[in-house]
Amino acid sequence: MGAVPPLPDATPVVVLVSGSGTNLQALIDASDDPAYGVRIVAVGADRDGIPALDRAERAGIETFVLRVADHPSRAAWDAALAERVAAASPELVVLAGFMKLTGAAFLARFGGRTLNSHPALSPSFPGMNAPRDALAHGVKITGATLFVVDEGVDTGPIVAQVAVPVLDDDTVDSLHDRIKSSERGMLVEWVGRLARDGHSIDGRRVVTPPNRRNL
Ligand code: GRF
Repeated sequence: MGAVPPLPDATPVVVLVSGSGTNLQALIDASDDPAYGVRIVAVGADRDGIPALDRAERAGIETFVLRVADHPSRAAWDAALAERVAAASPELVVLAGFMKLTGAAFLARFGGRTLNSHPALSPSFPGMNAPRDALAHGVKITGATLFVVDEGVDTGPIVAQVAVPVLDDDTVDSLHDRIKSSERGMLVEWVGRLARDGHSIDGRRVVTPPNRRNL
């Protein structure tokens, strides 16, 4: 399927990354199928030298890097990020392991259509160390949450969630690896659904039309 170009009406998506990019890879692989309805038009990062950028380059996707340290302030970086993402004209933005909070300028442009994936069952365990925090708390079930980004830390309206059991012998790494495996499936399924069928937001509820094509 890799040689088949996307349908012209595939939804343009920008993906932002900071790390290994396994979630990005899952989206790249899914996008190879024209029926998936997603065209990744650019991949952006807040740092150089990460495997996620190599994955994008291997797939022939345009990349860019905007480092906070190269800007006079966090707000200036956020405005530059919004400009750069806008230049790719996406309809959806997906934060896939992007380890920065987007700010006011970014949300003014892309609020309501920026998705983020968090490795916990929100509203439990927001922040950077969710698998560690879930393990330390002793929960028996954790998981991953896909949500629409708002001003808070992992607080936005929830698109989808997947549950993952915590095993007695789990380490932070083994738990996070298992979460990521489920997280990838959820991300691929729901980014595709939103790209193909759209969504609306009613208060805290994300409303999606029925999954007509059942991909
Ligand atoms: C994911 O678990 C994501 O939810 C978290 O960081 C991980 C990113 O992994 N914020 P990858 O870079 O997609 O492999």
